[in-house]
Amino acid sequence: MRTTTPHQHSPHAHGPTAHPHADAIQAQVLDLDAKVMADQVDAVIEWMPVRSAPTRIVDLGAGTGAGTFALLHAFPDAVVTAVDSSAEHLELLRDRARRDGLDDRIRTLQVDLDAADWPDLGRPDLVWASASMHHLADPDRALRTVRDALGDKGLFVVLELSGLPRFLSPDTPEGRPGLEERCHAALEPSTSARMPHRGSDWAPKLTAAGLEVAAHLALDVAIDSTENEAIGPYALAALTGLRRAGAELLPAEDLAALDELLDTTSPHSILSRSDLTLRTTRLVWAARRPDTDEADEADEADEADEADEADEADEADDPFSPAAEAANCERVLGSRRHGLDSAV
Ligand SMILES: C[S@@+](CC[C@H](N)C(=O)[O-])C[C@H]1O[C@@H](n2cnc3c(N)ncnc32)[C@H](O)[C@@H]1O
Repeated sequence: MRTTTPHQHSPHAHGPTAHPHADAIQAQVLDLDAKVMADQVDAVIEWMPVRSAPTRIVDLGAGTGAGTFALLHAFPDAVVTAVDSSAEHLELLRDRARRDGLDDRIRTLQVDLDAADWPDLGRPDLVWASASMHHLADPDRALRTVRDALGDKGLFVVLELSGLPRFLSPDTPEGRPGLEERCHAALEPSTSARMPHRGSDWAPKLTAAGLEVAAHLALDVAIDSTENEAIGPYALAALTGLRRAGAELLPAEDLAALDELLDTTSPHSILSRSDLTLRTTRLVWAARRPDTDEADEADEADEADEADEADEADEADDPFSPAAEAANCERVLGSRRHGLDSAV
């Protein structure tokens, strides 16, 4: 395993977590999410419209490696470059790679993906970005960089959350029903201001970056705490985050109700509840560079044509030229219809 070289790391308000303590809390949540959502991540990997099993994979905003390890298991011949701005997350990812005997198939890179110049990512045939793109201040630039890095037959898979997971039913907890929803509503303005791209439709962004959306998937997830023992600890971690962020925003009665749920020594602790259900919707877009057969034909025409015709062909090859954008738009609309048909 090649180890991390700190690269272009410049923490900012939108993306990289600001300090190690925040990273440690996020790492805990990411690991719990990975435990609870393992089957769904495997289902997305199986669903991905790859043209052949990828061997060179890049995991953008890899965190502690939920996607990295799932992809390594799904594609035994693949190597993964795990990219993240957090040294702490990458350290945890490397620790697990060593424990699982996978370190020779993983390279880690500490990179701020909002930086203009990324290190060389090679020519990946799969780029995977799970719950990371919305953290970026300038995701559009990142998408264009991915387009440039992707191989001709490569696939870019963007996974995002429609919102943060919910655990309590609306008529609970006793005495303060609707508590969780009120917490999220109170925090929404500051969260949106920090991460304006959260909850976006990524199809137009991918198209604008010169990629074609090949398929789209919406995964509605509801997992009962009786089915998965990590749901209680996940709910505890999530509500701890809400309590901390909402300290100045929530009414005293809601803060007291949260404190009761978060007191793991109390019989009213969230860990003692048997009625928790993780509810979340994961949205996935799979995109690739525009059809390479057409690009090949255009290249052959360029060689045969006169210089001025070649200039026109060059313009058509430019994904940002008006002609290319119009052509892409038509193709993407067709593909999106197909993708939406196949959504579950
Ligand atoms: C919600 S986590 C998702 C982690 C992982 N992909 C998963 O699905 O578990 C978002 C990740 O993006 C990383 N991140 C946020 N902003 C970033 C930036 N500007 N450059 C690189 N990584 C960033 C964070 O450090 C974090 O690991």
